[in-house]
Amino acid sequence: MMLLCNMKLACHGRTSSLLSVFVYQLSWGLLMISLNSHPSGRHFLQIPGPSPVPDRILRAIDNATIDHRGPEFAALGKAVISGMQQIFRTSGNVVIYPSSGTGAWEAALVNTMSPGDLVLMVETGQFATLWKKMADKLGVRVEFIAGDWRHGVDPMAVEARLAQDKGHEIRAVCVVHNETSTGSTSRIHEVRKAIDRAGHPALLMVDTVSGLGCADYRHDEWGVDVSVSGSQKGLMMPPGLSFNAVSAKALAAAAQARLPRSYWDWAEMVAINPSGYFPYTPSTNMLYGLVEAIAMLLEEGLENVFARHQRHAEATRRAIRAWELEILCLEPAEYSPVLTAVVMPDGHNADRFRKVVLENFNMSLGQGLGKLSGRVFRIGHLGDFNDLTLCGTLSGVEMGLGLAGVPHSKGGVQAAMAYLAETAAPAVVKAG
Ligand SMILES: Cc1ncc(COP(=O)(O)O)c(C=O)c1O
Repeated sequence: MMLLCNMKLACHGRTSSLLSVFVYQLSWGLLMISLNSHPSGRHFLQIPGPSPVPDRILRAIDNATIDHRGPEFAALGKAVISGMQQIFRTSGNVVIYPSSGTGAWEAALVNTMSPGDLVLMVETGQFATLWKKMADKLGVRVEFIAGDWRHGVDPMAVEARLAQDKGHEIRAVCVVHNETSTGSTSRIHEVRKAIDRAGHPALLMVDTVSGLGCADYRHDEWGVDVSVSGSQKGLMMPPGLSFNAVSAKALAAAAQARLPRSYWDWAEMVAINPSGYFPYTPSTNMLYGLVEAIAMLLEEGLENVFARHQRHAEATRRAIRAWELEILCLEPAEYSPVLTAVVMPDGHNADRFRKVVLENFNMSLGQGLGKLSGRVFRIGHLGDFNDLTLCGTLSGVEMGLGLAGVPHSKGGVQAAMAYLAETAAPAVVKAG
């Protein structure tokens, strides 16, 4: 085939361009086939983000791109900003970037810190570790409270460290709300109380990339200064948008902070956003999707969304216990409503098990990240998710455990189903 292409390329320009289109289409066609490898049914995307994107959002993204400086755009810009304020539960500024969540991490740091500033971080897992590495690279000094990757943030440890810092050298406490690598959700309101008890003026910066839209989150009430999030988890969107919710205190810190920043600069965003516009070309079509995502969350009601996630997480844990497997998170008060990480029995590799599940049931489960690689698999139960999606997911896991020869007891799916049936909302029966 390649030889044929090269011969034609050499002898005729037009034939060569047609051929290269053909070759491109063929390779893309092959890719499409491998993306949807089963002939029927949807792929089960049960990783803890990106989560499956509902059709309603996909259809909204499908609209024609408009002039981002034209009159129609202003209404869109205003709608997404005010909508995201409701999701973050803040009356302050929400900055939207065309980037993945990592960009919003960087924005949080470069807007508030100066070279050599000290921040306190807590090692809850891989994402806390990556945020720390980023701070190191940016020239921010980090004190990292060690963790075992099986718990959330210990508010007492934060309080103890801040209480020692009499000179208030620590500029910020940076923590991950929902640690996606381990399935532990930190109690951010307790961290706030710990900072207050220590009487410390540090900013509180929180990564809620995978928590927002799944787990209870209150930027204003919990006194968070910078919340960091992304589009591809609880917001049910494709990857590609990120967010900073910013308190007045954080904005004041930004006016003094000296780390170099340009693209991420809040000041330019905050200046132009009230008009509905952005300082550079925004992801117009992603914003169409975001309007729909916000509407879906608000129509269901945030409290109902959070309760739905809690219920599915509990059903998942019941299945895991029935299989006699181990849940990675050790603190029940910190069990994640977003995902559950499962420890593989000794001598069994989680990636081999995930491969068996993918090949047999067209379902993707989350891999173990960082030092948990091969040792855990993660079940995502977030976003556009219901009882039967959970039953399908857990069935795939249970059948996969059998096929992969992983020692377990039967009955996990049964245990989850019993709990779902027991806690189902009573059906409304019409009289007459
Ligand atoms: C808790 C958490 N923080 C940060 C990130 C990084 O976000 P992104 O991969 O969108 O850059 C992720 C991604 O999964 C995450 O789960």
